[in-house]
Amino acid sequence: MGARFTGKVVLVTGGSSGIGRATARAFAAEGATVVVAGRNEQRLAEAVRDIGGDASAVTVDVTDSADVARMVATVVDRHGGLHVAFNNAGILGTPAPAADLAEDDFDAVVRTNLTGLWLCLKHEIAHMRDHGGGAIVTMSSNIGAHRRLPNMAAYAASKAAVSALTRTAALDHIRDGVRINAVSPGATDTEMSLRPGETAADRAARMRESVPLGRVGATAEVAAAVLWLASDEAAYTVGHDLVVDGGAAA
Ligand SMILES: NC(=O)c1ccc[n+]([C@@H]2O[C@H](COP(=O)([O-])OP(=O)(O)OC[C@H]3O[C@@H](n4cnc5c(N)ncnc54)[C@H](OP(=O)(O)O)[C@@H]3O)[C@@H](O)[C@H]2O)c1
Repeated sequence: MGARFTGKVVLVTGGSSGIGRATARAFAAEGATVVVAGRNEQRLAEAVRDIGGDASAVTVDVTDSADVARMVATVVDRHGGLHVAFNNAGILGTPAPAADLAEDDFDAVVRTNLTGLWLCLKHEIAHMRDHGGGAIVTMSSNIGAHRRLPNMAAYAASKAAVSALTRTAALDHIRDGVRINAVSPGATDTEMSLRPGETAADRAARMRESVPLGRVGATAEVAAAVLWLASDEAAYTVGHDLVVDGGAAA
């Protein structure tokens, strides 16, 4: 096991479950002091137990700027700094044809996936640029900038915007010492990639047909990409949007 993050303080939003939790575990396994953030205290506590080491939690609703500012301040107060952030919190919304999407649902998807992620960038960068810089990875998706699927207009629009936001923010802040990249997974083994009523076996059959590699992605495979983007090995990688999807958008 490498130790690319020894001495680094790493914040993972949406770290209580799924890809976020797996990535937090991977950062901790490589020496990082990890803080996981999300809305649900109980799920965060479970994640902290699962991650082990000196992992801890902070509650946040990423759609609330004051809450996001408090999250960053809590991490800095607790550990003396913030070196790496993985802005991963996101929701799928309720899939429907574009004209039939509920207005509240459309707003919630954009507010969480795009505005919430931008608020995290805003408050993280404000700290990092005054304290020696840092690395940030944002969670996009292959749905959006890379491919489109029916019934996913709100999600696709929010994630395409995350891809564009990430690349623009990377240009804006690389000379502040803050290196920003995105990861764009395809269907990954969490509940989010199960269609309503679908079992894991049904999804496996769907993946055999629809993904060139023939299977769903593992959370650890997304985590590996995030850790590389956040590591010094990727020091010359700026404003990249790394697709990890078994070839679905190739
Ligand atoms: N699974 C896939 O196939 C796939 C593919 C491409 C991209 N993604 C993206 O990967 C990310 C993680 O998804 P996942 O599959 O791991 O699903 P997940 O297990 O549902 O994780 C979502 C995380 O985001 C948190 N979250 C949601 N809204 C939040 C808010 N307003 N404030 C703070 N935290 C919030 C959730 O915690 P609380 O509910 O406790 O707040 C949870 O920890 C999402 O951005 C998703 O769009 C997933």
